[in-house]
Amino acid sequence: MESCGTVVSSMLAVFLVLHLGLIPIMAQQNELQIGVTGQAVILNCTGIPHDKQVTWKYDKVLIRSFTTMHLKETSSLLTKLIFSKGKATMTDRSEISPNSKHLKVLDLRLSDAGIYTCEYDSHTVSISLHVFKLTISLSGHFLPNEVPELTLTQNSSHPLRDLNITLFNSNNNIVRPKHLENKTRQKYILKLKQLEATDSGTWTCHVHSDSPLINHNISFDVKVLGFRNPDLERRYATVDSTVILSWCLNFQNINWKEGFTGQLNWKQQESATAHELLDFNITARGEKHETKKSSRFRFEIPESKPESTIEVKLPKVHFNHSGQYQCQLAYNKRYAHSTIELVVMKVSANPVGPLPRGAKMTLICQVSSPLPSNAHLLWERVNGTHMDIKKSKQHEVKVEVNISAAGLWNCHLIEDNDRKISLSYPVEEAPVWISYVVTGASIGGSVLVFGLACLCIISGISWQRRRQRAKRMARARQHLLENKTCQCQQ
Ligand SMILES: *[C@@H]1O[C@H](CO)[C@@H](O)[C@H](O)[C@H]1NC(C)=O
Ligand SMILES: *[C@@H]1O[C@H](CO)[C@@H](O)[C@H](O)[C@H]1NC(C)=O
Ligand SMILES: *[C@@H]1O[C@H](CO)[C@@H](O)[C@H](O)[C@H]1NC(C)=O
Ligand SMILES: *[C@@H]1O[C@H](CO)[C@@H](O)[C@H](O)[C@H]1NC(C)=O
Ligand SMILES: *[C@@H]1O[C@H](CO)[C@@H](O)[C@H](O)[C@H]1NC(C)=O
Ligand SMILES: *[C@@H]1O[C@H](CO)[C@@H](O)[C@H](O)[C@H]1NC(C)=O
Ligand SMILES: *[C@@H]1O[C@H](CO)[C@@H](O)[C@H](O)[C@H]1NC(C)=O
Ligand SMILES: *[C@@H]1O[C@H](CO)[C@@H](O)[C@H](O)[C@H]1NC(C)=O
Ligand SMILES: *[C@@H]1O[C@H](CO)[C@@H](O)[C@H](O)[C@H]1NC(C)=O
Repeated sequence: MESCGTVVSSMLAVFLVLHLGLIPIMAQQNELQIGVTGQAVILNCTGIPHDKQVTWKYDKVLIRSFTTMHLKETSSLLTKLIFSKGKATMTDRSEISPNSKHLKVLDLRLSDAGIYTCEYDSHTVSISLHVFKLTISLSGHFLPNEVPELTLTQNSSHPLRDLNITLFNSNNNIVRPKHLENKTRQKYILKLKQLEATDSGTWTCHVHSDSPLINHNISFDVKVLGFRNPDLERRYATVDSTVILSWCLNFQNINWKEGFTGQLNWKQQESATAHELLDFNITARGEKHETKKSSRFRFEIPESKPESTIEVKLPKVHFNHSGQYQCQLAYNKRYAHSTIELVVMKVSANPVGPLPRGAKMTLICQVSSPLPSNAHLLWERVNGTHMDIKKSKQHEVKVEVNISAAGLWNCHLIEDNDRKISLSYPVEEAPVWISYVVTGASIGGSVLVFGLACLCIISGISWQRRRQRAKRMARARQHLLENKTCQCQQ
């Protein structure tokens, strides 16, 4: 075996000497190849025939070589492949493909930039490796409104030229970053705009230079942990209806692999102190744990809901349960939130009870907080005339209508010509004799009147019953607005 090896190499040497004497070494190609740190690059030994042996060097230091040896064993000829390792810095991160003889350098570093040569027979192919390193602040993990910074560094054996850098966001739209620093051609620092949850995805950094010709895309991931709800939304509900408030977190969609915590707070007014309703945490594996924090406030945490949803159910919403429900999440002492403002509407009458003929009654419709300028309240009588319509003035929280006719009255909350919610109030007409009572009472006190007054008390009880019946009717007609604010697609 030893002797055989010597024979092969000495024969090779003779062959080489012959070649060197007869033909000049092939013109050196100096191809440019681009690599990105952390990734792998394949260096092509262009033109190498399939069965040739090859030696790869970096800056004249051996990386790896690949040779074959033919062994004669008994009667058959065996081919043995011999891979040798050199002492170049990337040797342990490299491999030679047995078929193509390409050199693959894994987990590139900036210092891997430089001239690589591939030698076979008398040929030398030389490749200049230009390495880029792209880093993103906070390892690409952001919360909404944070501003990422990108740092692009390059290294090459060539003199460095100005780079033209173009950034594309996850929707492939060009974004215009602010250049913070580009004094040296080695390092470029770019400051992006404030992020939104929808900016999550794969971004592209396109690097261009004319000489040497570089036209390369480097992609990087941006993850913005947040809500799929808007920052602030308004929900309308009628009193006593069931309200479900939900917030959708995007951690599953963006493949966020870190743990974080959060809580849901309620406060009646902007200035009021916040009241914690529940807190939650999400593990790195995406499991959610929720803990109810308030016993004073009547609400439920619905059981069956997607892992990415934070939800509370207010079974019979009170007028005083209106206010701001803020869901907050915390990651590395940084915070994001989304608020739902719950506006509750109720209707009442003064005085309550059936309406005697000729008498008047005030119907009141009110909301728990001022409406935006595109919304108003409206009283109308079903099958009434346009005279029976009363609109609230801008920013008013209630509208009153003085009525003298019985019937079914509806109060609507209208936003941009859309009826968001409605409540009805049926006004019954009092029996004719009650009108006499009213008249009689105003004329003066007679015994008869006293007797009638007793009757009045009795019938008052039946009014009460009717009133309750009317209220039940009203409730039945309520448009329960139970549509959730967002649907998480699982
Ligand atoms: C490398 O060589 C192969 C053929 O051997 C060719 O198909 C491929 O495009 C080359 N790659 C580069 C980056 O030059
Ligand atoms: C650039 O590469 C050279 C080798 O080609 C190395 O000596 C130098 O340290 C590298 N520069 C950086 C910033 O890594
Ligand atoms: C630095 O950036 C400015 C614009 O932000 C550009 O006009 C200038 O050419 C850049 N200089 C280098 C060396 O890239
Ligand atoms: C930089 O590249 C962009 C897009 O590729 C192009 O519109 C712009 O003209 C280039 N600028 C320079 C100075 O080459
Ligand atoms: C780089 O990415 C941009 C945006 O996706 C694309 O328009 C362009 O063609 C890509 N260029 C190269 C060289 O891949
Ligand atoms: C998450 O919440 C559960 C239940 O409240 C609790 O047992 C656990 O310790 C919490 N984990 C973290 C990391 O906060
Ligand atoms: C809201 O009002 C109801 C009565 O209408 C009362 O029982 C309840 O305690 C109030 N809740 C809060 C949070 O003030
Ligand atoms: C309104 O009018 C329709 C048809 O004229 C009638 O069916 C309905 O009962 C009326 N509703 C009320 C509340 O008067
Ligand atoms: C309704 O009537 C009351 C007293 O009867 C009166 O004070 C009020 O101004 C009236 N409101 C409207 C809107 O007419």
